[in-house]
Amino acid sequence: MYVIVKVLKMMLLFIFVCLLLPSFGLSSENNLTIDEDLEIERQLKLLNKPAIKTIVDDGDIYDCVDIYKQPAFDHPSLKNHKIQLRPNSYPDGLFDDDISSSTNGTSIEIGLKDGNTCPSGTVPIRRVSKDDLIRMRTSFKDMKMNPPVKNDKNHIQKQWAVYIGRSKKPSGFSGVSAFINVYGLPQVMLTQFSSSLAWLVNNLKEDQINIISVGWTVSPVTYGDNKTRLTAGWTIDNYQKTGCQDTSCPGFVQLSKKLPLGFAVKRLSTYGGKQYGLNIIVFKDPDSKNWWLFLGKDRELIGYWPNELFTALPFNQIHFGGTVGYIENSKKPPMGSGHFPIEGIHKSCLISNIRYANMENKMQDLELDVLSPYSSLRKCYYVGPYFKENDQYGNMFFFGGPENCP
Ligand SMILES: *[C@@H]1O[C@H](CO)[C@@H](O)[C@H](O)[C@H]1NC(C)=O
Ligand SMILES: *[C@@H]1O[C@H](CO)[C@@H](O)[C@H](O)[C@H]1NC(C)=O
Ligand SMILES: *[C@@H]1O[C@H](CO)[C@@H](O)[C@H](O)[C@H]1NC(C)=O
Repeated sequence: MYVIVKVLKMMLLFIFVCLLLPSFGLSSENNLTIDEDLEIERQLKLLNKPAIKTIVDDGDIYDCVDIYKQPAFDHPSLKNHKIQLRPNSYPDGLFDDDISSSTNGTSIEIGLKDGNTCPSGTVPIRRVSKDDLIRMRTSFKDMKMNPPVKNDKNHIQKQWAVYIGRSKKPSGFSGVSAFINVYGLPQVMLTQFSSSLAWLVNNLKEDQINIISVGWTVSPVTYGDNKTRLTAGWTIDNYQKTGCQDTSCPGFVQLSKKLPLGFAVKRLSTYGGKQYGLNIIVFKDPDSKNWWLFLGKDRELIGYWPNELFTALPFNQIHFGGTVGYIENSKKPPMGSGHFPIEGIHKSCLISNIRYANMENKMQDLELDVLSPYSSLRKCYYVGPYFKENDQYGNMFFFGGPENCP
């Protein structure tokens, strides 16, 4: 009898060990210690909330989660946050400009297809996989899309070609809107990223740099593929320890049932052909002081960054343009359309209809007198002149550069 029990116990132990083995195997393959592996599993459980419905769109997985139980509310500053479903007011003139006729580029609507959006009361959150988390903590963890405010001291090299706007008023900028041309850059490799963004930035010491960034990116480290995606990020220390892209950490409150952050853009501009772009809008609601994100011709409300996330406002700078990252001394990725700004309309990447919300909460064209161009490696990536062709197109500029620049 005793022997049988002992044998049974051994068998159980054997089965138990066998069950554990796959994760041990994975751990050693990815050089994770058991503790790191457990930590990743814990994060996954926190980030991926129970789904009421799961949507697969072009290989991407979105979980429809209870709007009140979304990852945002795990942020310690949002424990008592009362969700806001609409802004109380909009900046004056926000919906005046007709982006669709701008420079012959079409402002695209993106999002889950009608009939395949999340049920009411739920919002789509891109599911984070174990591989995503592992990639983001390996040697590529410094592939962060920060603005050109501080030199990085790690082995990831970054470059920028941007216009930097500095507010002349202490109240800073309370909103920004622009049309950003969208291109496909499938040649971007796992050791690179390429983004075209607008950033709202304060200009303080590194550990106090608050940022909101919105635009598109190709970032295999973040997403595991080479698709062009809508992306939005935030941080309160220049992405050193806080913040992240999209909803891969608590913070951003998702409200749209059809447009999750990180969504792949399927209509892309072609070199010399039809041009498409994202019309991005970010502004502060003067009452709640939450920062709202809208997108597209139809001004789809995506969600907001609660005021409680930020530690040192106002944002006294806005930056527009491209940034790329790559392993030091390796090949460089393309920026923008992958062509220099000199090639111009329909060939180089364009940012147009550049506006901001002023102190009186009124949208205004961002004029050249508050702007300065900055290119960190001018022979490879740069910005063209900032100009206004006519009132309809607003202020614009081209930027970018090709891949494998020596
Ligand atoms: C694991 O570590 C080895 C040696 O340090 C390295 O060559 C290998 O690339 C690492 N694997 C991963 C997946 O990071
Ligand atoms: C828009 O398209 C029209 C007709 O194709 C062309 O004449 C015009 O120059 C274009 N405008 C811009 C800003 O490219
Ligand atoms: C982009 O990713 C797809 C899917 O993984 C792959 O088939 C394709 O070769 C990649 N494109 C390039 C240029 O690397």
